[in-house]
Amino acid sequence: MAHNTSLVIALLHIFALSFLNVLEISNGSEYDISCLRSINESLEDPYNKFKHSWNFGNTTIGSMCKFIGVTCWNFDDNRIIGIELGNMRLKGQFPLGIRNCSYLNHLNLSGNELTCTIPSNISYLFGYATTLDLSSNNFSAEIPKGVVNCTYLNALRLENNQLTGLIPPELVLLHRIKKLQCC
Ligand SMILES: *[C@@H]1O[C@H](CO)[C@@H](O)[C@H](O)[C@H]1NC(C)=O
Ligand SMILES: *[C@@H]1O[C@H](CO)[C@@H](O)[C@H](O)[C@H]1NC(C)=O
Ligand SMILES: *[C@@H]1O[C@H](CO)[C@@H](O)[C@H](O)[C@H]1NC(C)=O
Ligand SMILES: *[C@@H]1O[C@H](CO)[C@@H](O)[C@H](O)[C@H]1NC(C)=O
Ligand SMILES: *[C@@H]1O[C@H](CO)[C@@H](O)[C@H](O)[C@H]1NC(C)=O
Ligand SMILES: *[C@@H]1O[C@H](CO)[C@@H](O)[C@H](O)[C@H]1NC(C)=O
Ligand SMILES: *[C@@H]1O[C@H](CO)[C@@H](O)[C@H](O)[C@H]1NC(C)=O
Repeated sequence: MAHNTSLVIALLHIFALSFLNVLEISNGSEYDISCLRSINESLEDPYNKFKHSWNFGNTTIGSMCKFIGVTCWNFDDNRIIGIELGNMRLKGQFPLGIRNCSYLNHLNLSGNELTCTIPSNISYLFGYATTLDLSSNNFSAEIPKGVVNCTYLNALRLENNQLTGLIPPELVLLHRIKKLQCC
């Protein structure tokens, strides 16, 4: 009897754990999907360089890892670690929705025609940034000081924009920086 009870408890335990696991996966992908939807909204793609492959109708786990410009941790999950949409003549503004790509560490939007400012809360939107390449766009105003709070950065490229002001001197505090091209 005692034996059976502990077996039942063990089984319940396993069931509960796998249920939690499923919840975690579907929650994780919900945020990542919302991130991609929001990027899709922020960026205009007049030459249809990437949007044709961003098919949100396919809900299979891992399907969004096959979208053009999207890199995942693994092919069989939905944890996005990279967004690379360079040289596509995209228009629009910095995609604030990347905040929901919680595992993102690589963002490369170089060689487009993105305008307005680089958000001052960049480190809040993109906390695990290791690569940020916004070079050769039409970003204006100052380089936000908040970028110094992206403490994992090792490549930052912002050259060929219409940015004004000085490179925040605190950038030298980013000790992982290997590649820095600012202005
Ligand atoms: C993505 O953007 C295109 C055009 O900008 C739009 O037609 C489409 O509905 C968007 N997809 C989603 C899922 O929002
Ligand atoms: C959905 O995505 C999966 C994984 O990428 C793929 O194998 C499948 O063919 C896709 N289905 C459709 C209807 O596009
Ligand atoms: C960003 O992408 C462009 C091509 O689109 C590439 O030339 C460049 O090296 C990339 N930047 C980084 C920091 O990897
Ligand atoms: C993040 O995703 C949640 C859930 O889908 C959504 O309500 C929220 O507006 C999104 N945040 C941003 C910054 O896009
Ligand atoms: C980040 O700043 C932008 C304005 O540049 C604002 O719209 C957005 O709500 C802020 N996001 C967070 C998460 O603070
Ligand atoms: C971006 O800047 C280039 C040259 O500096 C200019 O030719 C182009 O019209 C600008 N594009 C936008 C969308 O502002
Ligand atoms: C960096 O983060 C710290 C701690 O969250 C905050 O006090 C500081 O204002 C931030 N610096 C910038 C330049 O955003």
